[in-house]
Amino acid sequence: VGAAAGVGALRVVYHAAGVVSDGVLGSQSERTLAAVYGPKVHGASHLHRSVATLGSLRLAMTSSVASLLGSSGQCNHSAASAWLNCLASVRSARGLHGQSSQWGAVAEVGYAARHADMDRFIAMRGMRPVSSELTMHAIGAALFGACATVMAVAPIDWRALGAASRRYGNGAASSFLRPMLTRFGKRAGDASARSRDKGHGGSGALATLDDVLEAVQSVVGVDGVDADSPLMEAGIDSLGAVELRNQLQPFAEDPLPATLVFDHPTARLLHTSLQRDVAVGPALAA
Ligand SMILES: NC(=O)c1ccc[n+]([C@@H]2O[C@H](COP(=O)([O-])OP(=O)(O)OC[C@H]3O[C@@H](n4cnc5c(N)ncnc54)[C@H](OP(=O)(O)O)[C@@H]3O)[C@@H](O)[C@H]2O)c1
Repeated sequence: VGAAAGVGALRVVYHAAGVVSDGVLGSQSERTLAAVYGPKVHGASHLHRSVATLGSLRLAMTSSVASLLGSSGQCNHSAASAWLNCLASVRSARGLHGQSSQWGAVAEVGYAARHADMDRFIAMRGMRPVSSELTMHAIGAALFGACATVMAVAPIDWRALGAASRRYGNGAASSFLRPMLTRFGKRAGDASARSRDKGHGGSGALATLDDVLEAVQSVVGVDGVDADSPLMEAGIDSLGAVELRNQLQPFAEDPLPATLVFDHPTARLLHTSLQRDVAVGPALAA
């Protein structure tokens, strides 16, 4: 970059280096943080400094929608992506070109496409894959268009996002999302009301064993998990355990512990523990 900048041949830099090192907070370490920060933050910082004197250079960077909406198990990726958003804003404030795109999961190519389960994973969070056509359009806009300094490239299913936001937010959509859900997701509000009518709004409605099995199956991605099968053997890893806990939260009175699935490692044990939670909750409150 330095050599190209020196001869004045460099007009555009598109920074797309990145690795992921996902894991729940307790399993993150200096090593996993450094792995993700290296190519993203230090790479972009190095590029920025190398081309700092080139006023006409355009620098676009690949952030992630994880820095906009959060993403379980991706605190390092989310933080590194937020750093790119800040760098784009700083460059822009200094009159330089800087653009950071918060990508959702890209279909067909790249690391999301290499994960077989990605479509199901993002659908549960209210997103759809980014098509190749939208990808090319967004890259063009980031480099040459009049787009925002920080923009999200993530097709959203507002109804599903509303439901997911309430699920992870213990029954309430985040204050950040609420205005957008109101504006774009009127049907999400209807779905919420229906859910409350059914008693699934964090009201402590009793979970049936079938409810628990349904949640387990949606996390594992296959039918037929037995009520007494050890969940870890059925394919639930630490991220899946967080996901399952979040799915079961609406059935509990109080916030469920992060260790729920480890403490109750079969669907039947989870079911029993949820019954106890609902039975004990009001008594404690009294
Ligand atoms: N794909 C998505 O759905 C998605 C969603 C959100 C954000 N993003 C971001 O978009 C960017 C591109 O994603 P992708 O799907 O194309 O990823 P990818 O297929 O995994 O490719 C990552 C690229 O980064 C390079 N790289 C990794 N560490 C590097 C380092 N230390 N120095 C230089 N290059 C390095 C890799 O080079 P080698 O092959 O030589 O290792 C590879 O070319 C990433 O920053 C990613 O975080 C992607």
